[in-house]
Amino acid sequence: MDLELTEEQRMIRDTARDFAVKEVEPKAAEIDKNGRWPSELVKRLGELGFMGVAIPDEWGGAGMDNVSYALAMEEICRACASTGVIMSVNNSLYCDPVYKFGTPAQKDRWLRPYASGEKLGCFGLTEPMSGSDAQTMATFAERKGDKWLINGSKNWITNGPHADTIIVFAISEKSTVGKAKHTAFLIDKDTPGYSREKPDEKMGIHGAHSCTVFFENIELSDEHRLGNVGEGFKVAMATLDGGRIGIAAQALGIARAAFEKAVEYSKDRKSFGVPLANHQAIAFMLADMATEIDAARLLIWRAASMKDKGVRHTQESAIAKLFASEMATRVAHKAIQIFGGYGYSKEFPLERHYRDARITEIYEGTSEIQRIVIAANALK
Ligand code: CAA
Repeated sequence: MDLELTEEQRMIRDTARDFAVKEVEPKAAEIDKNGRWPSELVKRLGELGFMGVAIPDEWGGAGMDNVSYALAMEEICRACASTGVIMSVNNSLYCDPVYKFGTPAQKDRWLRPYASGEKLGCFGLTEPMSGSDAQTMATFAERKGDKWLINGSKNWITNGPHADTIIVFAISEKSTVGKAKHTAFLIDKDTPGYSREKPDEKMGIHGAHSCTVFFENIELSDEHRLGNVGEGFKVAMATLDGGRIGIAAQALGIARAAFEKAVEYSKDRKSFGVPLANHQAIAFMLADMATEIDAARLLIWRAASMKDKGVRHTQESAIAKLFASEMATRVAHKAIQIFGGYGYSKEFPLERHYRDARITEIYEGTSEIQRIVIAANALK
């Protein structure tokens, strides 16, 4: 097994690192403090090819692979987790399913400008009364002649306030005995009947705006349908198999940010006459953090390379996301401990990393959902 990155992968990682260090990191604290949508960074992500990393160039993307996508996510999230998740939603949750399930005409309209960063996409699965149990959604798509009539709402839609198009999952066939059937649709923001709430107020990732989106008697033709009628839930699940790699890489980037700061601080700051790092209690914390970060990275690379090979990677993505997200919270927690009072202060970035890490255990499937997926596969 070869764990060496290719020249192209190293190039993407280095480009992402350079951009993240020079242009993203200096703004991260201000973006967090003001809850500011980083429009200038979103534009730069597009210019650099980071809004459609693994989408072929004929469809507006960078034509790289999913390992490259994970590498870029790690670097950008190390600098700013808000900017990173905006990128992740556009790549994994919007462009990937349009590429995989869209017709050539749909890709022309709904993929090319999004993968190139000209337009922005988002993904509507979660509803006020349906999160982890995603099949129980209430949004309904009624067949009316040769049209569809969509009614319902979606919430916590990351990128929602700024997105040009949303992929919406709706029940298209109710069932009194078995499970309902779902269908996916592409809905543009200027469609009559489409409206959005103001951005949500959250604990972290303040710059990555999310909101509730409403659909009131939205009339769509079949050209808006993504994938086959009744197969929308599979579109959603297959999409999340890829999305979970992106969120795992986000968690990894956040963990690295906290770890690197903890290393520097423990070398500089003295207690009892020696640098903090000379105390075994601190050195062992750093050792555990380094070990967990490495383990997460290898799990992410495994899942990403399986996606690149076209192999089903539901289990590997869930394992990577579960481990990386819980690891990021543990690492950020330890980093705050090493910083002591300064870690708890808003003057330093540690508390931001801690708040940002926490969401990675929740969105794109909570840790409990990842455990359900992993256990179901293990028990097969
Ligand atoms: N790929 C393809 N098909 C899949 C699949 C996958 N990974 N997983 C399941 N399916 C198929 C199954 O084969 C099954 O097909 P059949 O009906 O033909 O047998 C169908 O989908 C239903 O599968 P299950 O019976 O396993 O479904 P379930 O109702 O038990 O739920 C679940 C499974 C894993 C719990 C799922 O509901 C789930 O993942 N929940 C979490 C939802 C989630 O992650 N939401 C995130 C929202 S997006 C977000 O968070 C974005 C953001 O803010 C950044």
